[in-house]
Amino acid sequence: MNLIRKLARALGLHRSASLRRGRGYLNARVESLRYAALRAVSRSSWASSLYYGALSGAFRREHQAVLAGRVRYYQEEQSDLSSVYLLRRNIHRIEKGLIMRPRRSVFAADYVGTTVDSFSRLAEASDGNGRGSCELEWAEDVLGTYFEIAGSDPSIDSARSKYRRTIASAGTPARVPFHRDLSKSPPVEYKDLLALAARRRSVRWFEQKQVPRELIDQALQVAVQAPSACNRQPYHFRIFDTPELVRRIAAIPMGTQGFSDNFPAISVVVGEQKAYFNERDRHVIYIDAALASMSFILALESVGLGSCCINWPDMEPHESRMKAELNLSADERVIMLIAIGYPDPDGMVPYSQKRSIESVRSYE
Ligand SMILES: Cc1cc2nc3c(=O)[nH]c(=O)nc-3n(C[C@H](O)[C@H](O)[C@H](O)COP(=O)(O)O)c2cc1C
Repeated sequence: MNLIRKLARALGLHRSASLRRGRGYLNARVESLRYAALRAVSRSSWASSLYYGALSGAFRREHQAVLAGRVRYYQEEQSDLSSVYLLRRNIHRIEKGLIMRPRRSVFAADYVGTTVDSFSRLAEASDGNGRGSCELEWAEDVLGTYFEIAGSDPSIDSARSKYRRTIASAGTPARVPFHRDLSKSPPVEYKDLLALAARRRSVRWFEQKQVPRELIDQALQVAVQAPSACNRQPYHFRIFDTPELVRRIAAIPMGTQGFSDNFPAISVVVGEQKAYFNERDRHVIYIDAALASMSFILALESVGLGSCCINWPDMEPHESRMKAELNLSADERVIMLIAIGYPDPDGMVPYSQKRSIESVRSYE
């Protein structure tokens, strides 16, 4: 484009209306040639990679985040700290083994050793007696149950001995697979859930009053109940409610112009690529964080708070400003922002017609 502009200037094309039309024609020709080239490139995955590797930097930060995440995963796995994400994933896999029908007596043999190593290191790092956090309690209970029922196998037996050395005396395991009580009706009726979903609308105008952190925490209690791949929950809600900070952060994305100044609080939802050792899972941070965010937003609505999702454009100037503001590491990706506050009764919301279910679904 710059080349065309320079060429037009050199030829004096920018001066007269007829020559401006000529420039428009030239632009359109270049544009159509560009799309023809892109169409050709898009037919081959190799050529597409070459294009994004050599000619376009659009995915540069994402590529770096995925690689940096893999490196951090390995570093944490090797370090004394160990990877909480490795532990969460493996405990989840063991729980799945425990609920299998029929249940095998020997399973998880190929990874239970690593799991116990990871558990022991995290337990030691937490407070020395292995009861540091709800995650470790869950891991302890599941491993204890597993070793009770698992049959004999060299890997399992060696892990069992190590686990028993780590845990001196185990109580009755509570955080283990269970039968849900299905005799009671669900606590929320369909019509109430539908009414809550229909009531929620993106709120862009807020009352200028502080949002109680207890209410945000209550909404987060709902958010963390969301499903996530292998129960890793690879996200973090960075919440800001200091006016100056909120104003600065809310102004970084593109979609907040004209109303970002009135946000009482804002959450930046950050995904952690360090939860994964493999590129195949690179999209999971977006899925898991979005599922948790939706629960968060509905819960905010249920406690009287309004919210608005804010798009996060993957554009270098925005990325680097947010990185500096939040001190993000290379594997941390901003997923989106969520403005939070008490809705201003005088502020309107768009009608936002939803699609019919017929248009979004098909059976078989
Ligand atoms: C991922 C995502 C990004 C969004 N980004 C913006 C944004 O940058 N600015 C904005 O005003 N609204 C934004 N929204 C809100 C949408 O415009 C809104 O959800 C949509 O128009 C439907 O309206 P409703 O939320 O009131 O049902 C975003 C919503 C989502 C889910």
